[in-house]
Amino acid sequence: MSTDRFASQRVRAMPDSVFALMDAAKRDARNAGIDVIDLSIGSTDLTPPQVALDAIRDAVHDPTSHGYCLHAGTKPLRDAAVAWYERRYGIQLDPEREALPLIGGQEGFANLLLAVTDPGDAILLPEPGYPSWFGAVALAGLERVPLPLTPENAFLPDLDAIDPAALKRAKVLVLSYPSNPTAATATPTFFAEAVAFAERHDLLVIHDFPYVDLVFGDDDAPSALAAPGGRDRVVELYTFSKSFHMAGFRVGYALGNADALRALAKVKSAVDFNVWSGIQRGAVAALSEPRERLRADAEVYRKRRDALVTTLNEVGIPTDQPAASMYVWTRIPGGETDSVAYATRLVRETGVAVAPGIGFGPSGEGWIRFALVRDEDTLRDAARRMMPHP
Ligand SMILES: Cc1ncc(COP(=O)(O)O)c(C=O)c1O
Repeated sequence: MSTDRFASQRVRAMPDSVFALMDAAKRDARNAGIDVIDLSIGSTDLTPPQVALDAIRDAVHDPTSHGYCLHAGTKPLRDAAVAWYERRYGIQLDPEREALPLIGGQEGFANLLLAVTDPGDAILLPEPGYPSWFGAVALAGLERVPLPLTPENAFLPDLDAIDPAALKRAKVLVLSYPSNPTAATATPTFFAEAVAFAERHDLLVIHDFPYVDLVFGDDDAPSALAAPGGRDRVVELYTFSKSFHMAGFRVGYALGNADALRALAKVKSAVDFNVWSGIQRGAVAALSEPRERLRADAEVYRKRRDALVTTLNEVGIPTDQPAASMYVWTRIPGGETDSVAYATRLVRETGVAVAPGIGFGPSGEGWIRFALVRDEDTLRDAARRMMPHP
């Protein structure tokens, strides 16, 4: 039996994951012969771009990719990321100072906190929010000031409602739109106001932006970095996990404030040697994919959203239709509040695995999240299996 005998205070402060309980429930259901439809994790079933896979395959056989990748070796990805940003948002960043490759957004977020905060500083963290944020905040020894996201406020934080004393202690404001788990979006006006707020209170804004390409319709997801004053206040975290279905490859990049990225690069110099340059070549190739491909993938999620949301409403589970992301966030039917009890029972009884809302922070209690990672028919089947008993 393992104990936390050797665990540091930092590690002891990290919350336990409720997803282990879901794993056990899925296993029980499978052992009982139930066909499990796993919608509990945002790991997509779509495939990475062929050009990315080809570039990575070729790199395996190229000895120049086999050594340590120093900062200079990351230049092609920094250049490609900056060129992509200019194409998308019309702003030219400096690839030397305002771009940094990451081993995924999750790694970037955790190391960025170590880079720009000291233990005891406060962080303004939206809730419900991405689970690994909570662990990263604990590892950095920060005081977490939750920013409640409620349907009444379109799942946007009310910055004016933050306790002034906590605000004084805060160094960082975290934002993330399109949002996981709420699937909400933000407007350029919201980001302009948030960056102005960060200026007034001397905060760094971390905009976690994995769903940049998963917006339904013709509009681009707004970039916080593109807001007025953004380059002075914002670091934006990008990943290849969602736009390009390369989650297992562990690659992303940060764009934004040069001082914050310099500090992040210093932390990373003690921790890692950059993602393998072969994967970086795959990432560069992915960024050259035409916009139509990204729109076509978003369209797959839009159709899945329609299939799931329509059927949930038909079977008596009232659910709003989100405008972006690969998630659907809804209240547990029947007003039940214990999301872990509901989700574990649901998978054992019906085979439908969803993420319990409390996994995204205490204010997620009473909610569940579906990931749109199966085809439309399977999603309809899942919704029908969930029909509440009269
Ligand atoms: C908000 C948010 N940040 C970060 C990540 C992780 O991204 P990566 O795979 O690049 O670490 C996810 C993945 O679901 C996410 O939803």
